[in-house]
Amino acid sequence: MITRKLSSVIFSKRLYYINKVQFKYIQVSVIGAANGIGRNVALLLKQNRFITKLNLYDDDDRVLGMELELRQIPGGPVISSFSGDAFLSPAIRYSHLVLMLTRMPRKLGYTREQMLATNALAVQRICRALAYENPDAFFAISSNPINSIVSFASKLLQNYNAYNKHKIFGITHIDTARTRALLGKTLNINPRHLHVPVIGGHSDETIIPLFSNLLPSHYHIKEHQAEALTRLVRKSGTEVLNLKQGSDSATLAMAWSINEFVEKISEVFYGSYVIVNSFTANPYFGTKFFSGPTKVSECGIFETCSNFVMSEYECHLLSQAVPLINRDIARGEEHVQVIEEGRNL
Ligand code: LMR
Repeated sequence: MITRKLSSVIFSKRLYYINKVQFKYIQVSVIGAANGIGRNVALLLKQNRFITKLNLYDDDDRVLGMELELRQIPGGPVISSFSGDAFLSPAIRYSHLVLMLTRMPRKLGYTREQMLATNALAVQRICRALAYENPDAFFAISSNPINSIVSFASKLLQNYNAYNKHKIFGITHIDTARTRALLGKTLNINPRHLHVPVIGGHSDETIIPLFSNLLPSHYHIKEHQAEALTRLVRKSGTEVLNLKQGSDSATLAMAWSINEFVEKISEVFYGSYVIVNSFTANPYFGTKFFSGPTKVSECGIFETCSNFVMSEYECHLLSQAVPLINRDIARGEEHVQVIEEGRNL
């Protein structure tokens, strides 16, 4: 009797879940969908089982051709494409998640930090549209320099009375993806089962993989291996840029890792809570924003990382990174004045 009752509860819960998956309307917008990262993200999101509608926006009107092509793939979310200023608002209206992928690729010899002025205007434009059209959406940014762009966008949204610190993310899954891939190679195991928190920021001197927190805990690496891997993770983006001879920065790995972020986030709209790696408002490390594992529910971020047991080497990296992250955050905030008030600071 009890067993039957229990199984009917489980069964009805399952049905409810299936119904929710089938009938809940989840809309995601990709801004910058026709660039090297955006195209790949769009293709990956076409396979997302939680998203029902995918809006692709780009100033480049070849995005309209992308829509047609993606519509030729059976299944997945319904695709719509939008191009041009007048269509930015309809592209983000009603979206649960707005992904900001518009960016100029880094040029050879440039650091991510030097990309702020180049990418800020596009971010300002989307912040204005969001504030007016859809301030409740989750807003996830993947334009460099993440360490400055997130504070820049946050300040702008504050100015527009549309800031919600629980809903703005700088996507840093690329750093955990690279860490897992490189570690899997070192340990000669499948990296899918590995988990390493990566904290700090997203630049060559602020990415901090915490190999001391590696899971499953029966795996270990030596101190010198942790140091070598940290150096590799930190320079991975620059290496790709150099090998592509400056024609573009990483697009495939970036798209894969952004898709991993979206895969997780889209589950929150079905009532789950998830952990994503992202650069968000976080006061626990002596900076206003900080990257690391972040717990998210349907209402947004409800817990950021706050402390870790770290090796001496990791503590040293953190103490070096904090002033740099603070400098980058301040640059982002100052840039609001530069572009909003035309002041040359
Ligand atoms: C990356 O890490 O690959 C990206 O931030 C792109 C870049 O400019 O390196």
